[in-house]
Amino acid sequence: MSSEVKESITIHKGLDSIRVNESSICLIDGERSRLYYRGYSIADLTDNASYEEVAYLLIIGQLPTQLQLDELKNTLFSEYTLSPITMTLLKSYPSTSHPMDVLRTTISSLALEDGGLTQDKSVNLQRAIRILAKAPVIIAAFERIRQGKEPLTPKKELGHAANFLYMIHGEIPSNYDSRIMDIALSLHAEHEMNASTFSGIVTASTLSDMYSIITAGIATLRGSLHGGANEEALKMIMEIGTPENAVTFVEERLKQKKRIMGFGHRIYKTYDPRYTILKAIAEKLGGVKGKASLYDTAVRVEREALGRLSDSKIFPNVDFYSGLVFHMLGLRTDLFTPIFASSRIAGWAAHVLEYLEDNRLIRPKAVYTGKVDLQYTPIEQRT
Ligand code: SDX
Repeated sequence: MSSEVKESITIHKGLDSIRVNESSICLIDGERSRLYYRGYSIADLTDNASYEEVAYLLIIGQLPTQLQLDELKNTLFSEYTLSPITMTLLKSYPSTSHPMDVLRTTISSLALEDGGLTQDKSVNLQRAIRILAKAPVIIAAFERIRQGKEPLTPKKELGHAANFLYMIHGEIPSNYDSRIMDIALSLHAEHEMNASTFSGIVTASTLSDMYSIITAGIATLRGSLHGGANEEALKMIMEIGTPENAVTFVEERLKQKKRIMGFGHRIYKTYDPRYTILKAIAEKLGGVKGKASLYDTAVRVEREALGRLSDSKIFPNVDFYSGLVFHMLGLRTDLFTPIFASSRIAGWAAHVLEYLEDNRLIRPKAVYTGKVDLQYTPIEQRT
């Protein structure tokens, strides 16, 4: 590559600030701590809407009427069933499998019974709703199976969030816990062109199928820099144990150039609005569940980390308190990211369906820095 040509090329590492399409699904105002789904603020939605309403809003594009919401709920309920093949699969996994690996593998396996490429929008939408319904059932079923218990079938009278808790815990959750879970699912449902959404878009742009698209999203969300941070953040807070240990821990971690999980964001250069909502929930839930000391430790860690990172515009994100909230709802730590994934299926599906309306294969370029025209050397001559 001639040097003058190379000088004119800019490499956008991590595609930082690169825009790949126009979208009307989500607006993140990273400077003013604002988040909107289809024009509604996340605070307004979590104050008033159910997760089912939020999922409908994201995927279809407007808030549902009562009739449309009832129809979605009926479709979700009919799709909560798992086939004998899926149930046999779930019972075949090692009990030590990570639930994110279980979710990714099992969602992918659904294509074995409903395979095939299609460009039919109604089939893509139907498959997206099917996966949205089955993801929590798969997560909850594996949680029961690894405890040596039989999976539970969801109850018609419960909503999506309440059924999720019921299928995991085996008892009808309180209205309070159900509402907290509902809000947490809505907070995780969508976030513009994040890594896992982009992964789904790339897969969709080749005209692959919805099972492959959602599998790609789950696989991408798994990483600790993305969806895996909630699990890591809670482990960090529990490792610290008491507020008094926070100073030393944060100092040591930063001295070792390690990251404070649940802090920092590519877009937010101030507080993540989802953090604000989850922190308030964690404080109240901590009091209700007798976990106030864990909350106090988290607040001290947050304060110490902020003191050292906020000048670099590194603030707490959705993952700092989400793990605490899920823990206080009695959910095991390795379920946090699968729960995040089950909620984000709505956002992934919304972006994929929108992108396919004006599809273009996603295929960037690299800057070549290797050699050219090398001569082949027979293996016996290679040293
Ligand atoms: C999610 O994109 C989305 O919208 C994601 C998400 C969604 O809803 O889909 O919001 C969900 O993934 C939230 C983020 C969860 N991840 C974490 O909490 C893991 C810890 N955070 C980071 O690793 C980091 O902040 C990222 C990955 C989230 C963002 O990183 P960037 O924008 O690529 O920035 P960077 O990694 O280049 O860091 C810039 C500097 C570095 O310092 P230097 O090497 O330049 O000296 O900031 C430092 C970093 O070391 N830094 C941190 C830090 N995050 C960044 N230092 C300490 N602790 C941190 N958490």
